[in-house]
Amino acid sequence: MDQIHANQVIVITGAAQGIGLTIARYLNERGAMIVIADINEEAAQRAVENLPTGKSIAVKCDVTSEESVNDLAKTVMEKFSRVDILINNAGYFPVRLFSDMSYSEWNKVIDINLNGTFLVTKAIYPIMIRQRSGKIINMASVSGRVGGFGFTHYSASKAAVIGLTKALAKEAGSLGITVNAVAPGVIETETTKNVFPGFALKEYTKSVPLQRLGTEADLQGVVSFLCSAGSDYMTGQVVTVDGGYTMI
Ligand SMILES: NC(=O)c1ccc[n+]([C@@H]2O[C@H](COP(=O)([O-])OP(=O)(O)OC[C@H]3O[C@@H](n4cnc5c(N)ncnc54)[C@H](O)[C@@H]3O)[C@@H](O)[C@H]2O)c1
Repeated sequence: MDQIHANQVIVITGAAQGIGLTIARYLNERGAMIVIADINEEAAQRAVENLPTGKSIAVKCDVTSEESVNDLAKTVMEKFSRVDILINNAGYFPVRLFSDMSYSEWNKVIDINLNGTFLVTKAIYPIMIRQRSGKIINMASVSGRVGGFGFTHYSASKAAVIGLTKALAKEAGSLGITVNAVAPGVIETETTKNVFPGFALKEYTKSVPLQRLGTEADLQGVVSFLCSAGSDYMTGQVVTVDGGYTMI
């Protein structure tokens, strides 16, 4: 296997399952040392044990806790002494109509998706500044670009992640750090199957030019590219992976 990520230290939040785990496996197979940072400690540990090659670690981390993300940064530095790439992937997307949504439900989504991205980036960014190098990749969503039905909280959080990506890219460029986002359409994960009713997924698929839902594998090559030197002159970009659903 081509070792295009040889010896890169890549921190991925929310990588105990789903998209994050698939990306972790792909990057690890190509030489990267992965830090799986997830609130679900048991699943994170299991995930790391099942990665194809060694040297990766699992760290229990709640992205909404400043103390927890600072511990994450400390643990990563003790183990690897640097961070090449941060992938802010941890996310939460419960469907709820705006008319039924409580303030605490709104806050929980904003807290994990937006404040979590802020906090983890705040903890890792100084390391990248000292290195004068680093790549930050934020998992956004097409919901943050065009809005999603039943997703006012989620769409707001992901639109804000896109804003954060672009604004930070402007500040970070002169420090040798790039900041980009990936905006997937609906990707078939265990969580997606639980969140969306089957008929809604069928209806959605009809409006996707490529006529299918995305798979976790559809994201791995794109994220790998954003982790590689091939993307060195890209920053502040939102790379959409949605089978042509949005085309903006
Ligand atoms: N699945 C999709 O259709 C889709 C589409 C667009 C964007 N996304 C985004 O991709 C990312 C991954 O989605 P997924 O489908 O793999 O989700 P998932 O539910 O399968 O995985 C989310 C992971 O985040 C972890 N997590 C949740 N709260 C956390 C916290 N406070 N601290 C640390 N970890 C926490 C969970 O334990 C889990 O391992 C999310 O940001 C999501 O918004 C997903």
